[in-house]
Amino acid sequence: MVAWSPLRLNCGRVIANRFVIAPLTTDSSHEDGTAPENELEFVRRRAASGFGATISSAAYVAQDGRSWQGIGAAHDGHLSSLHRLAEAMRAAGGLAILQIYDGGRISKPELIGEGVMRAPSAVASLRPGAKTPRAMTSDEIENLIASFANAASLARKAGFDGVEVHGANHYAVHQFFSPRANQRTDHWGGTLAKRMNFPLAVAQAVRDALGPKLIAGFRVTPFEAEADGYKLEDSKQLCNELAALNLDYISVSLDDYRNSRPVGETRVYQGPVEKVSTPAENPITAFARIIAGRSAVMASGGIKSCVDAEGAIKLGADLVAVGRAVVVDPEWLAKVRSNSEASILAGLPQDELGIADALSIPPRMVEYLLSRPGWIPRL
Ligand SMILES: Cc1cc2nc3c(=O)[nH]c(=O)nc-3n(C[C@H](O)[C@H](O)[C@H](O)COP(=O)(O)O)c2cc1C
Repeated sequence: MVAWSPLRLNCGRVIANRFVIAPLTTDSSHEDGTAPENELEFVRRRAASGFGATISSAAYVAQDGRSWQGIGAAHDGHLSSLHRLAEAMRAAGGLAILQIYDGGRISKPELIGEGVMRAPSAVASLRPGAKTPRAMTSDEIENLIASFANAASLARKAGFDGVEVHGANHYAVHQFFSPRANQRTDHWGGTLAKRMNFPLAVAQAVRDALGPKLIAGFRVTPFEAEADGYKLEDSKQLCNELAALNLDYISVSLDDYRNSRPVGETRVYQGPVEKVSTPAENPITAFARIIAGRSAVMASGGIKSCVDAEGAIKLGADLVAVGRAVVVDPEWLAKVRSNSEASILAGLPQDELGIADALSIPPRMVEYLLSRPGWIPRL
């Protein structure tokens, strides 16, 4: 089966199998952006079941772009914590990839301070209670690109095998690409080509900071659910340009790899939605076609079994990222590998007090998981 075969990436690194732990924020880091032991253990135990690679939770690149209490890759003070994280992620010899992000208009005022929020344009997110950000100046945009490059350098120094730019899920890089969030008329917005400038500049800066021998990945949301959002045709163009930068992989962020549902900016969105919410072409297949082997394609969303993994591979994926399945069962991959899928835990137990210890999930993460009904299955 393809899922268990190794894959050589453009940079020369080899992933031993096609299974990757998806980026999973724990919301449990220290206030200074360093990782506590229980966050390291969450990762270590899951990576130990034999994943080809683990992607970290998203690390903020700038203090004024934090969206939750997660890890940081913003300055030298984060180096030793990042080093410990990379070690934990290599528990079974898999590759360690640091995901990096900036929150832009969905940063959290409680973490960054009131009135500090900056974004491509002064347009509030659709999230309930969202505050209107300030439009960034050209200098601030250049500085943010430099912060992504700095985070990539920190990852290299901390011993990571590579970095993934979080260009998906409505964070700042996605915002620059979105005609809803980005209403600029300068170099950074206006036409589709200009809305690509920020994502491409970040990808290039990260590749330059890493050098040619480390993994450079990029995560993309293939289309927006909202009627005035960008379409699959637009994100295909972005993938085409990203692949030309010799990235190692492009990751497609979906709720479910089969249904190709767009990830809406808010789950309680009431406004007009795109009429054809499921495009004729699956985004994984569409991306694989346009990338045409220049970079690997990573799929995610609803992968719960080996059959799912092979299904995503048939659609065009080279790698599959697994999220919620590995949150609820830390030994998920070992059970898949030994054909013991019947023993996989399909949800979090009802006994809330026991979850943290039994499953090595930091208590704050347990709270966060249970705060969104229907997000994580319960037994
Ligand atoms: C608790 C939790 C935290 C997440 N944190 C991140 C993150 O930091 N970065 C990111 O790109 N996606 C994040 N995601 C999205 C997952 O990486 C994944 O794309 C999504 O859960 C769908 O895959 P799944 O059905 O296998 O869970 C998170 C998902 C969950 C459940």
